Amino acid sequence: MMIDTHAHLSIDDYDNIDEIINKMGNNIIIVSGSSTKYNKEVLMLVKKYNNVYGTIGIHPECASDASEDDLKFIEENINHPKIVGVGEIGLDYYWNKENKDLQKEIFIKQLVIAKKYNKTVVIHSRDSAQETYDILKEQDLHIKSVIHCFSYSLEMAKEFIKLGSMLGIGGILTFKNSLKLKEVVKEIDLDHLLLETDSPYLSPEPYRGHKNEPYNIIYVAKEIAKIKELSYEEVLEVTTKNAIYQFDLNSKL
Ligand code: NI
Repeated sequence: MMIDTHAHLSIDDYDNIDEIINKMGNNIIIVSGSSTKYNKEVLMLVKKYNNVYGTIGIHPECASDASEDDLKFIEENINHPKIVGVGEIGLDYYWNKENKDLQKEIFIKQLVIAKKYNKTVVIHSRDSAQETYDILKEQDLHIKSVIHCFSYSLEMAKEFIKLGSMLGIGGILTFKNSLKLKEVVKEIDLDHLLLETDSPYLSPEPYRGHKNEPYNIIYVAKEIAKIKELSYEEVLEVTTKNAIYQFDLNSKL
């Protein structure tokens, strides 16, 4: 079995959602919300497809538009049996530098919700490694977390792992110039890594530049196997076990 731990499957991006979900067979997809509009789509998908689970949250890029109602929506739906976390949430200082305080506020409010309901958090963090780390540490959460699309240094990887985070590894790993990420994957034990696509974005080679889909995690798994000199089967087995643990899927599968 394999699990794509992070995908966005919206009707705004795909007219063949049925097809790409069915292509996964019995393999699991965890779809991630980013705003109330998309959180509602996540709920529709998890209800419709057996092999789809979801997380709901407000993405940092949507922080400026976020209202109390949006946070309330998360709380009202967080205990749906197929909602396995709060996400994606976090900080993005690459695209948005002007509202850093607001991003932090919305991020922390959602961490508090996750803690209250003991849910995993899926974290988007770009150009904000230290700030993200500091918030997670200060909040002293004792909940499981995933740094999705991990893009930071090996040192930061080790620090996040000490906090109990797992690292989401996606298509970027297959790009020739992604030397930093290849180093992280080489040095970090497989027990801390998760497979993800971040569909529709970041297609791995050989599909770079095309629209991504969950099945493409096979190319990420193959690249991890190559870098770590392990078999493809072992990479699938261990990363699947990791995802089941980090999203508490055991009782649900
Ligand atoms: Ni994402």
